[in-house]
Amino acid sequence: MQVSVPTIPESAPFTLEQRAWLNGYFAGLFSRGPTMAGVPASRDSATALVPLTILFGSQTGTAERLAKRSAKEAGKRGFAATVLDMAQTDLAKLSSEKNILIIVSTYGEGEPPDNAKSLLTAFRKGTALSLAGLRFSVCSLGDRNYVHFCQCGKDFDALLEKHGANRVFLRADCDVEYDAAFTKWLDAALAAFGSGTAPAHLTAPALDAAEPGEPDSKYSKNYPFPALLLTSRKLNGEGSSKEVRHIELSLEDSDLRYEAGDALGVVPQNCTELVNDVLATLGCDGEEAVTAPDGTATSLRHALTVHYDLGKPTPELVDAFSPRANVSNVTTQAVAPHHVIDVLLAYPETKFAPAIFVGLLKKLQPRLYSISSSPKAHPGQVHLTVGAVRYESASRSRKGVCSTFLADRNIPGESHVGVYVHRNKAFRPPTNGDAPMIMVGPGTGIAPFRAFLEERQASGAKGKNWLFFGDQRSTTDYLYREQLDEMLRNGALTRLDTAFSRDQPEKIYVQNRMLENAAELYAWLEAGACFYVCGDASRMAKDVDAALHRVIETAGGKTTEQAAEYVEMLRTTKRYQRDVY
Ligand SMILES: Cc1cc2nc3c(=O)[nH]c(=O)nc-3n(C[C@H](O)[C@H](O)[C@H](O)COP(=O)(O)OP(=O)(O)OC[C@H]3O[C@@H](n4cnc5c(N)ncnc54)[C@H](O)[C@@H]3O)c2cc1C
Ligand SMILES: Cc1cc2nc3c(=O)[nH]c(=O)nc-3n(C[C@H](O)[C@H](O)[C@H](O)COP(=O)(O)O)c2cc1C
Repeated sequence: MQVSVPTIPESAPFTLEQRAWLNGYFAGLFSRGPTMAGVPASRDSATALVPLTILFGSQTGTAERLAKRSAKEAGKRGFAATVLDMAQTDLAKLSSEKNILIIVSTYGEGEPPDNAKSLLTAFRKGTALSLAGLRFSVCSLGDRNYVHFCQCGKDFDALLEKHGANRVFLRADCDVEYDAAFTKWLDAALAAFGSGTAPAHLTAPALDAAEPGEPDSKYSKNYPFPALLLTSRKLNGEGSSKEVRHIELSLEDSDLRYEAGDALGVVPQNCTELVNDVLATLGCDGEEAVTAPDGTATSLRHALTVHYDLGKPTPELVDAFSPRANVSNVTTQAVAPHHVIDVLLAYPETKFAPAIFVGLLKKLQPRLYSISSSPKAHPGQVHLTVGAVRYESASRSRKGVCSTFLADRNIPGESHVGVYVHRNKAFRPPTNGDAPMIMVGPGTGIAPFRAFLEERQASGAKGKNWLFFGDQRSTTDYLYREQLDEMLRNGALTRLDTAFSRDQPEKIYVQNRMLENAAELYAWLEAGACFYVCGDASRMAKDVDAALHRVIETAGGKTTEQAAEYVEMLRTTKRYQRDVY
């Protein structure tokens, strides 16, 4: 049975050190295994425990959960460990710390997650800062598919060093399959901090069976629930250049629970035609024996369909097929092979044994989708709003793996899709049902706001709700129009402002609507509204952020600096929350 470890709330009347000691004491007391009673009981004085603060910077909760897991492990090893959200600390507090572990993810184009933004900015500005007494180690979470791999962790690592802090153990840069790298880092970093109490027989910390993000359920990323597809309905009208689908899945007979704001992990399979093309270029019939990433034996066809990623090639694959090319450049240049099939087609004379070939591929990863239903409104079901990714590149038509798996290769009432819940605690409707809520969700960004609105309606929350929605054309791309109209009629939605970019000669986006309504938007913020953004991270979320600053400047009569402080206040009080991708 999983025992939850109590922690001292930040509002409790203790200093950081006292809280650290108490949290470490609880972590030790409630932990399982050979040190369960041993560590706290064998110590009769608090001074024997080594203080350790574990700071996390996290957007979708992975770093936060790994930080909590680290605290449990540290507690077992004689540390007084406390977990701290980066948004809840500043340089002054940090300079009084002795030992810190940083676990931080990266977003956008090498940017920090929202809760790490102000701390990273403060570090960058802190010219006179000296952290000579501070010992640290950084674990950076990221994804090698991004150009700025693990950039935020690299930035914290470099800035801590620059300000005189002492790196006790080298930074770990973890890819999406982070378990092994994280475990190794934590084990070595804790040893390097030298509590002197780690019993020799203690192995590296075992990760819980459930992956981070899958709460209280036996189903996880590695053990997904086969959910029956109930509905797959195109939301766009005839003539639209978009294909967004409303997907309904049954959670009956599972123990999966979710809240509005959570995401659903979907385990996809590669397209059969693409697998056939890869087999043909390899000169294989698919029956060849290979090993799956978990070490089990399977056929090449099955492995290429369910286990291995046929998207962006790994540097190892590029190197193996084109050894004379400069690998580090090849994968980042415009001429880089887009997908695995492009490498195979570019070097048709190069052949590898199937077992060697799959060893050059990455594991196929699940995709996350913001849940677009409230469990209160649709018991036993989960709904998604999925944009099918289809495009042409190098004279080949390409399909997004998971979005077209959902759109094309599943039959409602028959097919089952592997899913798990990815909890997103940093993205929730206001806990106070009377608080106003402003939601900006163009395109598929509307998904969680359908869930928020259904949730507030089902729970009878009285707070006002304002939605900004946008897309290309009102006639074909007005997602969930009937439901939104009904919500306007029955008062569940107080205000709806739409921006259809192609309905008129000039482009109009949600950020334009925000600026047009600056006075009222600012009045809502002053009345305590929470401000939410969901959807495209590359342009929309940045433009909306800039518009929010501008609204506060113009309607609030503030300078640029004061507006930035106001936005920072919204962020740290969790009244500015984003779910952007
Ligand atoms: C927390 C979170 C919530 C999300 N919520 C939603 C949601 O509610 N709805 C939703 O639809 N998606 C959502 N996503 C995105 C989703 O997870 C997938 O990334 C998306 O569906 C694409 O996955 P895919 O497997 O279909 O495409 P992939 O096979 O992963 O291909 C996508 C890649 O193809 C390339 N590409 C795409 N278009 C082009 C082009 N025109 N030219 C060249 N290259 C191109 C890009 O490299 C892109 O990264 C969310 C993501 C996150 C992290
Ligand atoms: C929209 C988006 C952008 C991302 N950008 C980067 C990036 O630039 N570099 C990187 O290494 N990882 C990037 N990642 C991967 C995340 O850092 C990684 O999934 C991490 O484990 C998430 O941790 P968190 O849940 O604690 O936020 C990105 C992920 C998403 C969804």
